[in-house]
Amino acid sequence: MNSKNKVMKTSTSSRALLATPFINQKSKEIQGFGIRFKVPLGIKDKVCEESISNLNQILADTMTLRDLYKKCHWQTSGSTFYQLHLLFDKHYTEQSEIVDLLAERIQLLGGIGIAMAVDVAQWSRIENPPTGREEVPVQISRLLNAHQVIFEFTRKAAKAAAIGGDEGTNDLLVSDVIRTNELQTWFISEHLVSLSPVEANTASKRH
Ligand SMILES: [Fe+2]
Repeated sequence: MNSKNKVMKTSTSSRALLATPFINQKSKEIQGFGIRFKVPLGIKDKVCEESISNLNQILADTMTLRDLYKKCHWQTSGSTFYQLHLLFDKHYTEQSEIVDLLAERIQLLGGIGIAMAVDVAQWSRIENPPTGREEVPVQISRLLNAHQVIFEFTRKAAKAAAIGGDEGTNDLLVSDVIRTNELQTWFISEHLVSLSPVEANTASKRH
C-alpha cells in the first residue's frame, strides 16, 4: 500500500493508565483561613498575627479599588475619555501589582490571603458603586474615597508593624501601598480642578 493512503488510527485503551491524568480530585483543605503556621522569621507570633490580619484587610480594599479602576476604565465618558481611559488602566495595573505583594506577604508570614471575589465582597469596607455608569466627577470622587479608606487603615497598620518589629510589612505598606496610592490620588484629583484650558482666571480678563 502506498504510504500516502495509510490511516493513522487512535483507540482508547486501559494500557494508557499511567499516562492518564487523575481529574475531579477532592480532599480537605491543608490550611484553614485564619490559621497560621509558624515561620522562622524572628518576628513575634502576636505581631505576625496582627500583620496578617491587617494585610488581609488592606488586600480586600485594594482588590476592590483595583476593580473600581477597571470599571472606570471601561465606563468613562466625555471630552477626557481618552486620557482617563489610559490613566485608569495604568492605575489598575499598579493596584494589581500591590495585590500580589500583599497576598504573598501574608503567605510568607504563614497566613492565608483572601483571593476570591466572594471573600473580597465580605471584607472590603469600600462602598459599592452601582452596576450602571456614572459621570466622570462621580467616578473620580468614588476613587478618591476608596484611596482614603486605604490610607487611614494602612497608616495605622504600618505604624503597628514598625513598633512590633515587622519591618518587612512596614516597608511594603509605606513604600508600595502608601506611596503608590498617594501618587494615584494626585493624578486623579487634578481632574476635579475647575480651570479652563484656554482662558486664564485673572482680574485683567478681557471683556
Ligand atoms: Fe482595556
